[in-house]
Amino acid sequence: MRTLIEADEIERGVARLAAELNERYAGGSLTVLGVMTGSLMLLADLVRKLEMPLRVGVIQASSYRGTTEPGELRLSLDAMPDVVDQEVLLVDDIFDTGRTIDRLTEVVAARGARSVRSAVLLLKRGRSRVTRTPDFRVFEIPDEFVVGYGLDHRDRYRNLPYVAVLEPSDLDAEGTGIDDAVSGAE
Ligand code: IMP
Ligand code: MG
Repeated sequence: MRTLIEADEIERGVARLAAELNERYAGGSLTVLGVMTGSLMLLADLVRKLEMPLRVGVIQASSYRGTTEPGELRLSLDAMPDVVDQEVLLVDDIFDTGRTIDRLTEVVAARGARSVRSAVLLLKRGRSRVTRTPDFRVFEIPDEFVVGYGLDHRDRYRNLPYVAVLEPSDLDAEGTGIDDAVSGAE
């Protein structure tokens, strides 16, 4: 595994994001919705740095992923708080094809939110398949498969405090490949 973003870089990046949000939403209140499971680390680190009156909730998104198939996106909104007339910020680990953030933005808006914006830790270059872009992003990365700081491969590596590129040799050691379709929580 090759480290791409060190833990202290992530910490500084999240602090920059928090400062931007504190300025953007100054004088108002915010409902932060973390997209489970990948946003776990960013959500916890970010909300502790936000200064406006805040509500925190989660949404579950999962998809059946393969490299060739776009995959079916499934959403579970059972744990989502009421968003009517709220300023909402979706928080996710990565904006890859953008389908998750795109769909969630529509869904939350349809539930009566006053505004819906999105913040991601990572934006993967050259992968987007939607016209929407995240309103806030901390780092831009090349098109490689990454794990750590919430990001997983088959539910492993989420606990790493840094972001690393998963190399083909790591996958061989796991006895599996990225090309295999992966089903499960994002
Ligand atoms: P989307 O393609 O933008 O909808 O991304 C959906 C989800 O795919 C993200 O929230 C991640 O959970 C997952 N994902 C995309 N790229 C990666 C990656 O490089 N590593 C781990 N998970 C990823
Ligand atoms: Mg995710």
